[in-house]
Amino acid sequence: MSSSSDQDDAPDGGEDSPLFRRRVVGPSPGAGGVADVPVAQSLIKVASNVCFSLFVLAVLVVTVVAVTYQPPDPWLQSSAAITTSLSRVLPNSTFLVPDDSLLPTGEDFNSSAAVPPRARAEANQDDASAAVAAASAAAAADATCDPNAPLNCSDPRVLAAVKAFNAKAFFRKSIVFLSYEAPVAGPKPGQCDVAWRFRNRREKSWRRYRDYRRFSLTSGDGCALDIVKVGKFRSGTNAARHLKGPKNSRVVAPPVDAEINDTIPVVGSEAEFKKGKYLYYMRGGDHCKSMNQFIWSFLCGLGEAKFLNRTFVMDLDMCLSGAHTVDGKDVDGKDFRYYFDFEHLKESVSVVEEGDFLKDWKRWDKKKGPGRITVRKVPSYKVTPMQLKRDKSNIIWRQFVGQEPENYWYRVCEGRAAKVIQRPWYAIWKSKRLMNIVTEIAGRMDWDYDGLHVVRGWKAQNKQMYPNLDADTSPDAIVNKVTKLVKPMRNLYIATNEPFYNYFDKLRSHFHVHLLDDYKQLWSNTSEWYNETTVLSGGKPVPFDEYMRVIVDTEVFYRSKTQVETFNNLTRDCKDGINTCNL
Ligand SMILES: *[C@@H]1O[C@H](CO)[C@@H](O)[C@H](O)[C@H]1NC(C)=O
Ligand SMILES: *[C@@H]1O[C@H](CO)[C@@H](O)[C@H](O)[C@H]1NC(C)=O
Ligand SMILES: *[C@@H]1O[C@H](CO)[C@@H](O)[C@H](O)[C@H]1NC(C)=O
Ligand SMILES: *[C@@H]1O[C@H](CO)[C@@H](O)[C@H](O)[C@H]1NC(C)=O
Ligand SMILES: *[C@@H]1O[C@H](CO)[C@@H](O)[C@H](O)[C@H]1NC(C)=O
Ligand SMILES: *[C@@H]1O[C@H](CO)[C@@H](O)[C@H](O)[C@H]1NC(C)=O
Ligand SMILES: *[C@@H]1O[C@H](CO)[C@@H](O)[C@H](O)[C@H]1NC(C)=O
Ligand SMILES: *[C@@H]1O[C@H](CO)[C@@H](O)[C@H](O)[C@H]1NC(C)=O
Repeated sequence: MSSSSDQDDAPDGGEDSPLFRRRVVGPSPGAGGVADVPVAQSLIKVASNVCFSLFVLAVLVVTVVAVTYQPPDPWLQSSAAITTSLSRVLPNSTFLVPDDSLLPTGEDFNSSAAVPPRARAEANQDDASAAVAAASAAAAADATCDPNAPLNCSDPRVLAAVKAFNAKAFFRKSIVFLSYEAPVAGPKPGQCDVAWRFRNRREKSWRRYRDYRRFSLTSGDGCALDIVKVGKFRSGTNAARHLKGPKNSRVVAPPVDAEINDTIPVVGSEAEFKKGKYLYYMRGGDHCKSMNQFIWSFLCGLGEAKFLNRTFVMDLDMCLSGAHTVDGKDVDGKDFRYYFDFEHLKESVSVVEEGDFLKDWKRWDKKKGPGRITVRKVPSYKVTPMQLKRDKSNIIWRQFVGQEPENYWYRVCEGRAAKVIQRPWYAIWKSKRLMNIVTEIAGRMDWDYDGLHVVRGWKAQNKQMYPNLDADTSPDAIVNKVTKLVKPMRNLYIATNEPFYNYFDKLRSHFHVHLLDDYKQLWSNTSEWYNETTVLSGGKPVPFDEYMRVIVDTEVFYRSKTQVETFNNLTRDCKDGINTCNL
């Protein structure tokens, strides 16, 4: 919907601005040649050269250490490290073979800047809440009560008992309990369903999720209530929010996660639109490239918009690269919100949606006179953000003309611009709809499971780059290795790109094996995810595609306790092919 031909009738730029005239003047190169110099001065020069060489050496050592150091834990990667490592693979402006690995996004970095104040307040209250729960349980025990009266879930002692239980329960170790809702009656006497919000300690983001479980209670000592049984993750369905919707409503709104609000922000009025300053990136060569390139490019645009203090005009329509599909064909018409958290994005940076923006622009532009909307057209990335800093036009329109790789968005952030543009990694989180599935899978195993990541696919077939991978990931080799690393009969979640479901059957006599496909009802046509994504697609079923699978698989693996990785633990082959281990 944003091809250049659609734009022909869009308003033309003001007086043709001299795009290349305003060149930024840098420091003059090659400072001063040396002619005849007195001896003392040359000595000083020699000494300073030696010092400089030592300095260079020191920098080199530090750099090499920094570059070779690859933290084993993906959660420890910083956005700076990602920026560095991606810049290294991009010297000739092409992404190499798209990796099967997922690029970390903002929620994977420990950046306290990204913590919303609301969440920060809740976090502080977390550890206090256990103490409060214990105290209120004790207070409840002091109250007068009739031990033979039937259990009423509204009784404050119920919530107190549940809080005290959760504060001690086994899943407490991974979970931070944030807030509770009032308990409701379960299906049988003596049962109450209780819902709460929580956060996972293994997640760096402050995103909150809901759980609701079924508790069976009996009278204990004095007036206290004892919990005799607790259900599994999301077993307390009477406390699930979507059952409490308006009963008489004629419009059957599909129950969606009430905490997701990714409506598209609208510009309210002509005056508001004209007051705004926009940065509009037209679709370039990045379209249909790998997701890693998309993120890298998109963050460049957001970074430039931030640098210019402008609102970024974004296209929610995406194309999933063939690198992430089963048949290798690109799939157009995907929605940004399938993969990323648009709500978090619009709270973090200033964005508007391209379709609305173009409509408003056409609608409110006076062709001439004081009402007109001024535009600066920028055909090439060679015009730097620094050159645009002082431009007062309403809209800066980057058009990305030219052939690949000249028309990639991320080129705007190369060279000197790399020093001034900061990519706002904190703005991009994975879709909460997908993370709800991750939470559900991890929750069903009570966050108490070990993880095994098995990379096969084309890498296992490429014997030149990966001489041992295929043998080292054969069923027998895996059994041999993993039984030494993981305790018997633990829950073992296997994240893998091996398509054959029964490939891991030999592990089943040693572990409780879990694979992504065991959870396919979580995205089937009766799932919450299905309901939520069809809302975005205007009613059309949304396929659970390969990229979504990779996100969910990887994120479930990240939440496991003992983690066994292909390239550290199963094989001595290097992740990026032969002899790349220490690059
Ligand atoms: C540059 O791109 C070519 C493919 O176009 C690739 O073979 C080569 O390895 C790349 N070089 C670097 C340093 O990335
Ligand atoms: C996250 O960062 C904060 C400070 O920004 C630090 O106190 C905390 O220990 C970090 N947490 C982890 C798990 O690295
Ligand atoms: C439970 O207690 C609440 C108030 O504490 C009361 O409104 C409600 O009727 C009681 N329910 C039953 C089943 O007794
Ligand atoms: C969703 O967010 C928008 C602002 O982006 C706000 O106007 C709207 O009221 C919110 N809707 C709900 C249901 O919270
Ligand atoms: C950024 O723009 C807003 C209005 O669009 C203005 O209020 C603010 O002062 C600007 N900030 C900077 C640093 O220029
Ligand atoms: C869900 O999919 C199954 C087959 O996969 C089909 O038989 C059924 O009609 C579908 N249900 C809905 C509500 O679309
Ligand atoms: C999905 O929506 C349908 C009707 O819109 C509803 O009957 C069904 O319960 C919903 N499924 C879930 C899991 O929320
Ligand atoms: C996997 O290998 C890494 C790096 O060698 C090591 O730190 C980790 O402990 C190993 N994992 C297991 C489960 O042994």
